[in-house]
Amino acid sequence: MITQRPKGTQDWYGPDMYKRTVIEDIARRLCKRYHIKEIITPVFEHTILFQRGVGETTDVVQKEMYTFQDKGNRSITLKPEGTAGAVRAYLENGLYAESQPTKLFYITQAFRYENPQSGRLRQHHQFGVEIFGSASPLAEIEVITLLTEFIKELGLKGVKLYINSIGCRECRKTYNKALLDFLKQHEDKLCGTCRERMQRNPLRVLDCKVPTCHEIIETAPRTVDYLDDECREHFEELQSLLTEMNIPFKVDTGIVRGLDYYTRTVFEFINSEGLTLCGGGRYDNLINEIDEKQDIPAVGFGFGIERIIKELETEGVELAVEPAVDLYVGILGKESKAAAYKLVKELRQAGYIVETDYMDRSVRAQMKYANKIGAKNTMIIGADELAAGKANIKNMDTGNETEVVLNKLVEFFS
Ligand code: HAM
Repeated sequence: MITQRPKGTQDWYGPDMYKRTVIEDIARRLCKRYHIKEIITPVFEHTILFQRGVGETTDVVQKEMYTFQDKGNRSITLKPEGTAGAVRAYLENGLYAESQPTKLFYITQAFRYENPQSGRLRQHHQFGVEIFGSASPLAEIEVITLLTEFIKELGLKGVKLYINSIGCRECRKTYNKALLDFLKQHEDKLCGTCRERMQRNPLRVLDCKVPTCHEIIETAPRTVDYLDDECREHFEELQSLLTEMNIPFKVDTGIVRGLDYYTRTVFEFINSEGLTLCGGGRYDNLINEIDEKQDIPAVGFGFGIERIIKELETEGVELAVEPAVDLYVGILGKESKAAAYKLVKELRQAGYIVETDYMDRSVRAQMKYANKIGAKNTMIIGADELAAGKANIKNMDTGNETEVVLNKLVEFFS
C-alpha cells in the first residue's frame, strides 16, 4: 500500500511528462497569440461553489466530488473542474470592472471520484479557456478557432467538432416540460437515479449511461426543437461563422453536456472511438447564479491532457523528441573535477545540454553511460587535457574526434 499510488491517479515522469510539457507549451503559446491571460485558482474551494455552479443533480456533484470537512469544520471540495473556480476568482477579484471581455486560461488538476476505466481518472488535468463578458457568437468562434489550431499544432487528425444548442433559461422551461411529459411515459423503465432526476432536473436524465435508460433517451425530444427566436438566431449565426472560418463541424442534437451551467451553445471534440477529448460551451447564467449582482455572459472549454496523450499514441503522432544531451564531459581523476565542472557550467550557461559524472565511475563506465543517455558528443577531461588546455571531442554518431581549445569550447558548439 505504502508504495502504491491511489487508484485513478498517475505519476508523471519520462516520455509522458515530456509530452505533457510540450502540450502545455503549445497551449501557452497559443493563448499568448489570442491575448488570453493565465489564471491559477486554488486546488480546493468551498463545496457550495460546485453545488451551486456545476449543479446539485449532476453526476459530478452527486457522485464524484472529493469533499471533506477541514479542521475549521468547513466543507471543502477538491476542484472537479476549472470553470467554477475561474468564475469565483473573476467575481472575487472584480475583474468584471475592467474593460471586457476578460479572457483567461488555466492548466489545472481536477479531481473526480470516477470508476477508473479507459480515459477516466480520479485526478486528471485540463487545459481550459474562459471568456467573460461577450454574448456574441464570435466568442464561441474565438475558443473554437483556438481549439482547432491547438489540435492542428498537436498533429491530431482524428478529432472532430460536434455542436448543439440547448437554449436559454426561457427555452429550457418549455423544453423541460416536453421532456418531462416524454419521460413520464417511460417512467417505469427508467433507473432510480433517472426517476429522481426527472422531477428535479429532467435534462440530467439525458446523461444516464444505463443501457435501458439510454435506449429511451435516444427518442426523447431534442433541445433544438424548442429554441426561441434569439437562441435559434444565435445558433444559426454560429454555424454560418464556423462555415466562413472553414471549420468543419457537425450538429449533434444529442449533446447536452453533463454540467448544469450551460446555455445555448454546447460543443465537444470527439475522437473516432467516441471519446470526448474536449467539452465546452456558453454559460450565460452561471455568473449570476454565483453572484446575483452580476449578469455577465461567458463561454469556455476544458481539454483533457491525459486524453490528448492517449490520442497522440492511438494516432501514432510523435509530438516532439526530447532534446538530446549535446555533450557528456567525462572526468578523469579527482583533481580534474572542479575544472571539468566549470566547463560544464560554462556550456550550460551558453544554452547547451551538458551532462557529467556524479557517480565516480571509471572513464570506461562514464563513456558507456554517455552512450546510454544518447549524448551527441563526449569529451574526457583529465590532468593532461587541463595542462595542455585542449581536449578531443568525439562525435558519437560518426566516431570522428576533433581537438578543441578548452577556453574556446562555447565557440566550438555555436
Ligand atoms: P468536462 O467535459 O467535464 O467539462 O471536462 C472537460 C474534459 O476534461 C473532458 O472532455 C475530458 O477530456 C477531461 N476529463 C473530464 N473528466 C475526466 C476524467 N475523469 N479523467 C480524465 N479526463 C477527464 C468541464 O470540466 C468544463 N469545465 C469545461 C468548460 C469550461 N466548459 C466551459 N468552460
